[in-house]
Amino acid sequence: MLGKMAAAVATFACLVMLSSLQAYEATAVPHSQVNGIVRGTVYLNPKLSVPQQYKQIIWRFNNSLKILTKKWNQPVSYPSGSFQNKLHYHENHTLEINQLQKQDSGIFQIQVEDNLSKKTNEDIQLDVYEPVPKPRMNFTIRANKDGWCNVTLACIVDATQVTYHWRKNEKDLVGENSNTLDDQLKLESDASYKCIISNPVSEETGFIHYGSLCKKDEKNSAVPVSLARKTADSILAFGFLLLVHNWV
Ligand SMILES: *[C@@H]1O[C@H](CO)[C@@H](O)[C@H](O)[C@H]1NC(C)=O
Ligand SMILES: *[C@@H]1O[C@H](CO)[C@@H](O)[C@H](O)[C@H]1NC(C)=O
Ligand SMILES: *[C@@H]1O[C@H](CO)[C@@H](O)[C@H](O)[C@H]1NC(C)=O
Ligand SMILES: *[C@@H]1O[C@H](CO)[C@@H](O)[C@H](O)[C@H]1NC(C)=O
Ligand SMILES: *[C@@H]1O[C@H](CO)[C@@H](O)[C@H](O)[C@H]1NC(C)=O
Repeated sequence: MLGKMAAAVATFACLVMLSSLQAYEATAVPHSQVNGIVRGTVYLNPKLSVPQQYKQIIWRFNNSLKILTKKWNQPVSYPSGSFQNKLHYHENHTLEINQLQKQDSGIFQIQVEDNLSKKTNEDIQLDVYEPVPKPRMNFTIRANKDGWCNVTLACIVDATQVTYHWRKNEKDLVGENSNTLDDQLKLESDASYKCIISNPVSEETGFIHYGSLCKKDEKNSAVPVSLARKTADSILAFGFLLLVHNWV
């Protein structure tokens, strides 16, 4: 179990690295993107170069609301009530945002006005996601006379903006990206299924271990059998959540 978990964590770490790389590559265009998790923290690191001396630095939200101003040699001020207690401005011009909420998603723009009043802007898009909740699993079995069993597995989660991946006996089922999975099994065969639900900031895994359930329903052949009531006994489920911040 730990091995599987480690593998899943490694896979996810790899995904995180890929997305950081993409963000890094995107710095050539004046628009980068950062993901955050609800109640978490993000650091917005502008790529533009701030001169040693400047007149002022202003951060705006969604191209209107002024949320931070820093005049040369003066303390930072936070003009907007809604962001006031969540922002922390670092000497290196990184903006830290705490206690993220979904409604903090939007464009954060830094504007640097140098000592000749020349203005330079940079936009950073922030997308804040809820952590993926733990999935509920269910399945339906249809037994054939010829010794095969058709199963439909479902991975149920109350969330939008998530993607699904399935694994059977630790092998990826490439192209299976919906919340249900249809499969055929020989009677008596044993299989373990994993449904991995993710968004850019977290993931959860649901498990179904499929034992000899198929056999029992042989006489009900070709009749859909709902085993939802039995799921508590036959499903092993665990999930994990990775809190990701500071990987800009
Ligand atoms: C403006 O800043 C530059 C370097 O950032 C400096 O060389 C120059 O002396 C400054 N000019 C004024 C008027 O402060
Ligand atoms: C600036 O400082 C903050 C806090 O120490 C750090 O998290 C951030 O990575 C720094 N930014 C850069 C661009 O080095
Ligand atoms: C900020 O802009 C985004 C679109 O870029 C929008 O979805 C969001 O609702 C806006 N937020 C606020 C608080 O106006
Ligand atoms: C089982 O699945 C196969 C292939 O999808 C299908 O042809 C067959 O009719 C199904 N059998 C039952 C009992 O649902
Ligand atoms: C299993 O989940 C699917 C997808 O949400 C749903 O359509 C189906 O009715 C559920 N089946 C049972 C037996 O609960």
